[in-house]
Amino acid sequence: MEQLTLFDLEPQSTERWQVDNFSADNFGQQSARMSLEQKLIEIMVVSNDFNRQSVSYQLSKNDCLHRWLKYKEGFSADLVKRLLKEFDIKADDTVLDPFVGSGTTSLVCKMQKINSIGFDILPMSKIAIKAKESVFDYDLSEIKQLISEIKNLSLPENYDKRTKYVTITDGAYPDTTEKEIAFFTDWNNESKYSKITKNLVTLCILNSLEKISYTAKDGQFLRWDYRSKKMLESAEYRRQNGKSPLVIRLDKGIMPTLKQSLLDELNSVCNDISSIQRNSQPNDSKLQFIEGNALYELPKLESNILNGVITSPPYCNRYDYTRTYALELAYLGITDEKIKRLRQELLSCTVENKPKIDYIKENYIALGKEDDFNRIMQIIENNKTLLEINNSLTERSKNGDINNKGVLRMVDGYFTELTFIYAELFRLCKSGAKVAFVNDNVRYGGEVISVDFISTELAEQIGFKPVKVYSLKQQKGNSSQQMAKFGRVALRKSITVWEKP
Ligand SMILES: C[S@@+](CC[C@H](N)C(=O)[O-])C[C@H]1O[C@@H](n2cnc3c(N)ncnc32)[C@H](O)[C@@H]1O
Repeated sequence: MEQLTLFDLEPQSTERWQVDNFSADNFGQQSARMSLEQKLIEIMVVSNDFNRQSVSYQLSKNDCLHRWLKYKEGFSADLVKRLLKEFDIKADDTVLDPFVGSGTTSLVCKMQKINSIGFDILPMSKIAIKAKESVFDYDLSEIKQLISEIKNLSLPENYDKRTKYVTITDGAYPDTTEKEIAFFTDWNNESKYSKITKNLVTLCILNSLEKISYTAKDGQFLRWDYRSKKMLESAEYRRQNGKSPLVIRLDKGIMPTLKQSLLDELNSVCNDISSIQRNSQPNDSKLQFIEGNALYELPKLESNILNGVITSPPYCNRYDYTRTYALELAYLGITDEKIKRLRQELLSCTVENKPKIDYIKENYIALGKEDDFNRIMQIIENNKTLLEINNSLTERSKNGDINNKGVLRMVDGYFTELTFIYAELFRLCKSGAKVAFVNDNVRYGGEVISVDFISTELAEQIGFKPVKVYSLKQQKGNSSQQMAKFGRVALRKSITVWEKP
């Protein structure tokens, strides 16, 4: 069979993608990172042919089915298709994604008759997966009937129930919209439609929430429109205390009602369903999704069952899914207390994450796998690159270069937890299976952390054979604070590929 690669064009010289200084102003030790860089640059491939859109949600936006959950952190169906081809995965094989998100890997597999297993801690994943995997089961006439019924529905005048909220989403919607969300939700729950159609309505409501709210997802936080209660109260507080008004740039203009947005969403998914039902055939491949923490769930699976892994974990970039998706979580009934717990379930990627190692250990002991736990811990503790990074960050923190100690805990926890994931994947893979991880490199306090190469080194120590590190031509910029203080260093966005020998 012809060997296909992700890059059809001539690979570029890797020079511009090679880091030549890991510690700004030569502040700390960098010999371990430097020698790792020199070693792994050999397997790095950079090309034009692959771009930021493929590893982000942008391509999925135009992709039938995959765009059904508005999920900016997703990668594209195109990327998954290319990797499946590159890995020579065939019908009836099994592919795993430990960090499912909107379900791109699972759904591309489903459409190609490939079995899949996936995990995610977010309840939205379950709803999205259910909605998408049912694509051949919908009765289009039922959905059309539902759409026409919604067209004739309106909020009763004396209706007074409001949708649930949590502290960070308090006042997120105009008053009537709060009532409209509760009204349509109750109507959906009590309606006569089939379970899968009701689930589709829930998905379409979830997709509407940001649009009909005073908020906008923006990096790590929600931004608020100047008309929201939060912004009006804060402006009043500043006025009373003689402070100048804050400059609030978010003006969402005229916002749609839930009914308008719901109808748009339903019409759009209805078109997709009709086109997929016309142009593709259903198949009986198995799509297994488990709402749970991959760190605790992977050790429970049987060994040697996978033909491949295609995934993208949370990046080590302080991005907090529980804040970005607070509207959606609150809508699904997740309380403040539960959101805090969910945040702690995230692979350590926020400054608020506390170490999970005691829970991980407990789980391995409960499964009778203490030896595995100890072996994996040894790999982590003896890894010179991780040691160098943790030491450098500690020194940077003492020097006042890191403004939040949570960063140290996050980086340490991130690699510890990922090593457990890599080790489990190794155990779960059949011989010859390939694993792809999409991730971004990061920089804190002037210290460059090459997530792609460090992960590859850890994977190799676990037993994988490093195959390639595909690096995107477009690199990532730095935060403005890092740039101002330490100058600019381009950070790679990569897809690391390993093989179980
Ligand atoms: C980068 S996103 C994955 C996006 C996915 N590739 C897609 O196309 O939609 C990372 C996902 O990991 C999930 N996650 C974070 N920590 C997790 C954990 N410990 N176990 C399982 N999933 C987790 C997050 O909720 C998030 O949905």
